[in-house]
Amino acid sequence: MAELKIARLGNPILRQVAQPVNLKELSDPDSEIQRFIDDMVEVMRKEGGVGLAAPQVSRSVQVVILESLNNKRYPGRGDIPLTVLVNPVITRYGKEIRSGWESCLSLIDFRGLVPRSTEVTVEAYTREGKKIRIEAEGFLAVVLQHEIDHLNGLVFIDRMEDFTKLAYMEEFETYWMDQEEPTGA
Ligand code: NI
Repeated sequence: MAELKIARLGNPILRQVAQPVNLKELSDPDSEIQRFIDDMVEVMRKEGGVGLAAPQVSRSVQVVILESLNNKRYPGRGDIPLTVLVNPVITRYGKEIRSGWESCLSLIDFRGLVPRSTEVTVEAYTREGKKIRIEAEGFLAVVLQHEIDHLNGLVFIDRMEDFTKLAYMEEFETYWMDQEEPTGA
């Protein structure tokens, strides 16, 4: 049973730049970092997130995980299989920018309209230590940008350009949800 607790906005760890993982630690399947990744997956699923970055569970290391399977908080956004990324870096941001409503387990009651690149390239390592490159678009590209921002001490509100589009979840559902493009990301 994971004991990890979500760090919420105001916790200074969310504002730190996370440390890279020593890739040698990944090679032992029983290592502490592997158990930590398992705990992250458990917490993300329990909290209903589509992504989680290690600083959000109070550990300042460069690990993010993603998963979206029929997620109720993001209906109609398409599925993302469970993905674990170690030391991820966004190496390319596409030129096209689109705004979409985001939330975050560290700002659980809020939604905000955030401009993001519609395409990104990410280089990272798997939890087995294998180097990979992901060419992402749409919802996956947005989730990757959101989670990798956490490793650099950023949260989604830092990316917002219009704070009139920051809403409590209930007000988002009342005033904004119907205006959202179903495939907008
Ligand atoms: Ni977040």
